[in-house]
Amino acid sequence: MSDTVAEILRLLTEHFGEDFQHYSLTLAAKRIAERVVQLRLPDVAAYHRYLNDNPSELSCLARMLRIRFSSFFRDTLQFELLGSVIIPSMLPGNTNGFFRAWSAACAGGEEACSLAIIIDEALQLLGLKTRVQIFATDIAEDALAEAEYGRYSTAAVAGVTLQRLNKYFIYDRTGYQISPRIKEMITYSRHDLLDPNTYAPPESLFGGFDLVSCRNFLMYLDSPGYLRVFDNLFRALNPYGVLLLGKAETVPDRYEPYLERMFDCGNLFRKRQMVRRS
Ligand SMILES: C[S@@+](CC[C@H](N)C(=O)[O-])C[C@H]1O[C@@H](n2cnc3c(N)ncnc32)[C@H](O)[C@@H]1O
Repeated sequence: MSDTVAEILRLLTEHFGEDFQHYSLTLAAKRIAERVVQLRLPDVAAYHRYLNDNPSELSCLARMLRIRFSSFFRDTLQFELLGSVIIPSMLPGNTNGFFRAWSAACAGGEEACSLAIIIDEALQLLGLKTRVQIFATDIAEDALAEAEYGRYSTAAVAGVTLQRLNKYFIYDRTGYQISPRIKEMITYSRHDLLDPNTYAPPESLFGGFDLVSCRNFLMYLDSPGYLRVFDNLFRALNPYGVLLLGKAETVPDRYEPYLERMFDCGNLFRKRQMVRRS
């Protein structure tokens, strides 16, 4: 069975010219099993044949593998720590007047907007005018189009406090529009985190981020894919920069000496300044 699953991932890679072979086989097997049931097929081998005969099914499976779910302030504790302790301590020391963040695998923009909101709150509290650039990237064009549009349903903003809803969203009976003030801080663009030729979004030119958030994406990769993406996130992070991971994601052993866990909880890490031995 896992040979057929691997073969299906190879087929997707060949069809889209994007790397699906580093998705975890367990995740892929689960999603494929769901499609087998939905299409009333006898088994995975039959699904493989179905894919060959119905190319549109390839897009459907690709969407299912790139799990799109996100929400505002997902992982409340992490955002509390960021907003009340970490961001306020980072902004004043930012001598070049810029604060650069990267929301990698940003889905429909919920994470990037949440980051922009807590950064804006900290700037106002401290009376600072630091320029903020948040680069928010994803591989899925439809997710990026939604993010760019910046309109969210009542259900989608369920995790946002009333105070923030009033301040950062515009309600018009059909939904909540993110305010221009927040949108201006964010640049959305397509970026494939598994692309072997880039380590940071080209729009950012060189990476150099004070904050990198990559949550709930790495957990869907196999070990080599996880390491490949992690190498790039680490490279794109400035010394003393902060890395946010999802609850189920960890720092690979080889990076433990270079990333310090900031709190017992919250999955937040600070990049240590690396000292060169002479
Ligand atoms: C579960 S969502 C995570 C969203 C957000 N980071 C969060 O934690 O709420 C995973 C996202 O990863 C994106 N994704 C999947 N494969 C990708 C790739 N190779 N490069 C960049 N993004 C990818 C999907 O399109 C999806 O939007």
